Amino acid sequence: MRIIIIGPQGAGKGTQAAELVEKLGAEHIATGDLVRAEIKQGTELGQKIQEYNDKGELVPDEIIIEMTKPHLSENESWILDGFPRNQAQAKALDEALEDINEKVDRVIALEASDEDLVKRLSGRRQSEATGKTYHIEHDPPPEDSEEDAGPFVQRDDDTEEAIRTRLDTYHEQTEPLKEYYGEQGILVTVDASKPIPEVTEEVLKAVGENE
Ligand code: AP5
Repeated sequence: MRIIIIGPQGAGKGTQAAELVEKLGAEHIATGDLVRAEIKQGTELGQKIQEYNDKGELVPDEIIIEMTKPHLSENESWILDGFPRNQAQAKALDEALEDINEKVDRVIALEASDEDLVKRLSGRRQSEATGKTYHIEHDPPPEDSEEDAGPFVQRDDDTEEAIRTRLDTYHEQTEPLKEYYGEQGILVTVDASKPIPEVTEEVLKAVGENE
């Protein structure tokens, strides 16, 4: 199954994608993770895109499309998290899938208010050991865990200023994609302001599991 999760920053795309990956055995393709991995490796490309990431701006389309494309054909089943984020990327995705005779099966749009999202992102911590995401209040990092020893750090783009920029970009460029996929009849919207397990239940229903 080929699934896209769209939603504003902090809506829980990564959190819910992890649940879907476990349930469906699909590959998790998170463009934000691809960007951060490139930056961490210190490649020339990584240096070029770091500034966009840290300011909360989108990486230029041609770069992100080239980074994402190879992952689409590597696996039959995937959860695409963070891509597409605008019309140009949605078109590029359609073309890339047409080339391999495939299409998107379902688009899940997570929805929550900006104020909730700012609170969530400022409490987010990520494990340097496993990459798993936690929240200091709703889902605290484990203490003395063999499975995940941390350290648990804050992302460079989780500053209030960068979060506001990311949310503005979402409303301007990404949110209109809901109409694009709605017209194709493959969009399901999910209220992501509820607690994580309740959101997961709705997400699983949206992909035909947990009915
Ligand atoms: P990316 O990593 O994709 O960041 P993002 O879109 O800002 O999304 P987040 O990861 O912040 O949020 P999320 O929805 O995954 O939330 P999470 O599950 O972590 O992209 C980073 C950067 O890379 C971009 O700014 C850009 O520069 C570049 N980039 C990436 N893709 C690109 C593209 N296509 N084009 C151009 N540039 C691109 O949850 C957040 C927190 O809330 C966690 O602490 C979690 O525990 C908690 N939480 C989750 N759900 C709930 C809930 N229901 N209740 C309470 N707490 C919850």
